[in-house]
Amino acid sequence: MRQKWNVLLLVVLLGCCGVVLGQGSSSVTDVSPPSVSFICGTRPQIPITFGLARRFVESPIARPNFRSEIVKKFDGDPDLRPLTPSSLGSLLPQQADFSSFRPDSYTVQVYNGVVSIKSSWPWMALLGEENNPRAPWFCDGVLINEQWVLTAAHCIIEKVPHVVRLGEHDLSSTHASNHQDYYVKKFVFHPDYDHKQVYHDLALIQLKQRVSITGSIRPVCLPWGSHPLPATGSLLTLTGWGGTYYNGPRSDVLQEASLYLLPASKCVAGYSTLHDYAQKYPKGITSDLLCIGDTDGQGQDACQGDSGGPVMHRRNNKYYLSGIVSLGYGCGKPEFPGIYASVHHSPDLAWIKRVAF
Ligand code: ARG
Repeated sequence: MRQKWNVLLLVVLLGCCGVVLGQGSSSVTDVSPPSVSFICGTRPQIPITFGLARRFVESPIARPNFRSEIVKKFDGDPDLRPLTPSSLGSLLPQQADFSSFRPDSYTVQVYNGVVSIKSSWPWMALLGEENNPRAPWFCDGVLINEQWVLTAAHCIIEKVPHVVRLGEHDLSSTHASNHQDYYVKKFVFHPDYDHKQVYHDLALIQLKQRVSITGSIRPVCLPWGSHPLPATGSLLTLTGWGGTYYNGPRSDVLQEASLYLLPASKCVAGYSTLHDYAQKYPKGITSDLLCIGDTDGQGQDACQGDSGGPVMHRRNNKYYLSGIVSLGYGCGKPEFPGIYASVHHSPDLAWIKRVAF
């Protein structure tokens, strides 16, 4: 997380361009499903073949505990018959998600993850500065309905998002994607966000025009109603165009990683050793923060540039937003899991509903 805050810029920002601070009261906690309904959280599917299954097993998103089992089953079988998730049967854990797996490339990603298949995360957004033609994209965001994108508040403290790109996959190729750019109408900081602390690092961006929902552009689902936060230890999926190592350049191709929801105590153990803990975390790691990391030593994590992007869980074949990438110490350090703004925290979800639905 950036440490120097440009107070002057903040003052200028507050005085102009449709910035709204603290819209609504933060005490109201209505998180019932909004009346407008639309398709959310579904992704394009890819067929699974034997070769694909094998490469999936060898990829970092396959977890070691079932990797060895599945390799045993398929080793020595030269047959290239098609496989379906059901023919893989109980060997696959519930969270195994072939549709997120790019067969020919599972090198490095978000931090030690894999490259995602094209347009496979259709709610991913990039925030861009208008007057920076060489490197306009400074943070990620997530489309939550036809006109609003959720991101991290710290992203737009120093930089003004003028444009939001949707439907992007590979930033280096201009023709190979169906991306669409939308101008920003206004943005709204979470009313309880204080840039000197880590809590409620959320902001909403309203687009000037309504988004046309296509195969490659559609919103993620939000955990309305009594949708519980996944249990500690559950697998979550992180996506983003951030660096693949600390201080590294932004990744051109959208990356993804599988991570675990960890107990808050794991983050307290790491972050409380830092000199600025009392200042930045005066209430400790509260329930509006999620502590998410890797427990099996593969070092997957978010990194610089992933901020504002989503961490998600899958339920009934739909993806639900769990949290927004907020901060971390370095990238991929086992003692310092990533810290995310939770959208399961009722007052924060209720704020999203009041402003954007
Ligand atoms: N604050 C960072 C950003 O602006 C996100 C860092 C997340 N880091 C981590 N190790 N989980 O992009």
